[in-house]
Amino acid sequence: MDTVTVKDKRFRLSISADELHRAIGQVAAAITADYAGRRPLFLAVLNGSFMFAADLLRLVPLPCEIAFVKLSSYAGTHTTGHVRQLIGLDRDIGGRDVIVVEDIVDTGLTMQHLLGRLQAMRPKSVSVCTLLLKPGKLQVPLDVRYAALQIPNDFIVGYGLDYDGLGRNLPQIYTLVP
Ligand code: IMP
Repeated sequence: MDTVTVKDKRFRLSISADELHRAIGQVAAAITADYAGRRPLFLAVLNGSFMFAADLLRLVPLPCEIAFVKLSSYAGTHTTGHVRQLIGLDRDIGGRDVIVVEDIVDTGLTMQHLLGRLQAMRPKSVSVCTLLLKPGKLQVPLDVRYAALQIPNDFIVGYGLDYDGLGRNLPQIYTLVP
């Protein structure tokens, strides 16, 4: 399946399932080495990171916990720059080694806002693990410790990422055809 239609737009295959799993394996190995002897708390940012988080955690053989939070800023294919509230954090992260798991860092505004909220809760450490990074779109200085793949500025869907709520179930990543 080299092209797909999601809602009213065409998308072309850009990152295969094999490529995704290879890149995720490398990030999982890096986290496993860096956090040896610790018990990190993964905070997966819904909705986009559900598939990535599931595949990543399967490959991290450390004692660890996972919780899911929600903080979204996107409508359609362009960022609104408007950041919403943090929902769903059901435990104390004070003194914990937190790893934030995101699907994609685009402008970085969502992550910057989230990190500000988390730092106020006094964790021992916070690091960012994203499946995808668009370095060309970054608008704020952000320390992204783990980025599985870097991609161009194009809009993408699949593997958890959506276009107007659709396409999250695609097992590979597709790029918008202009
Ligand atoms: P940022 O605040 O601009 O970094 O946007 C982050 C959020 O926007 C991500 O968590 C995604 O939900 C969404 N997003 C950014 N780029 C894309 C894309 O190319 N396709 C689908 N969603 C995206």
